[in-house]
Amino acid sequence: MIKPTTSKQPFMRPIRSFVRRTGRVTAGQAKAYEQWGKAYLVPFKNELLDFAKTFGNTAPVILEIGFGMGEATAQIAAQMPDINFLCCEVHEPGVGALLKRIGEQNIQNIRICAHDAVEVIAHMLPLDSLHGIHIFFPDPWHKKRHHKRRLIQAPLVQQLTQRLEAQGYIHCATDWQPYAEQMLQVLSDETLLTNSSADYAKRPSYRPLTKFEQRGTRLGHGVWDLVFYKV
Ligand SMILES: C[S@@+](CC[C@H](N)C(=O)[O-])C[C@H]1O[C@@H](n2cnc3c(N)ncnc32)[C@H](O)[C@@H]1O
Repeated sequence: MIKPTTSKQPFMRPIRSFVRRTGRVTAGQAKAYEQWGKAYLVPFKNELLDFAKTFGNTAPVILEIGFGMGEATAQIAAQMPDINFLCCEVHEPGVGALLKRIGEQNIQNIRICAHDAVEVIAHMLPLDSLHGIHIFFPDPWHKKRHHKRRLIQAPLVQQLTQRLEAQGYIHCATDWQPYAEQMLQVLSDETLLTNSSADYAKRPSYRPLTKFEQRGTRLGHGVWDLVFYKV
């Protein structure tokens, strides 16, 4: 028998910023899950995360949302050994790829949560706890009917801001101008944030140029960085 839905149990799926792709996990990535998963993966739980316990120290924490294959993440973390990085990604091959980099390069300051960052933020991250937030090249969701899937929207930005410590920052980058404009609008509208620049920021030196970006720049395509601080 089909049960009727009630108001407590709405017949609706949440709008997600990703589509689960069943990408191929390579043998190397699978081995990395086995070898290093236990040490570096943080399971999703409906309870606040204890950063000191998770990282084994009390260094400041940066949240990264959607690290892809983790190339930039590993570079930034290696360059900033005194900062901890909590990195969320839902794409399994990407998680495997970053675990592989962590293991091979013996990177100590990254932990990965292989779960929807929106849920991680809501359930696991204490208020006023983050030193910074990195969101590099989030899916632009080009088609108008998909715009509702974009990560950078007022409700999420409000939740992120609540989790930043005072003077903490949020750094977004995109190569899709209409999304850059949306980011600028939404971040500027958040009253607890202040823009580090008049509009778009110069790329901070810690964010490495991706191969994809280097090619795009040669072809004359733009990239927009936005850096806002919590007042
Ligand atoms: C276009 S890729 C960019 C990857 C990487 N930051 C880069 O610069 O190459 C966006 C990534 O965000 C991930 N993603 C999207 N929504 C997410 C969410 N809610 N939680 C975690 N990861 C998410 C996707 O799986 C995808 O790998």
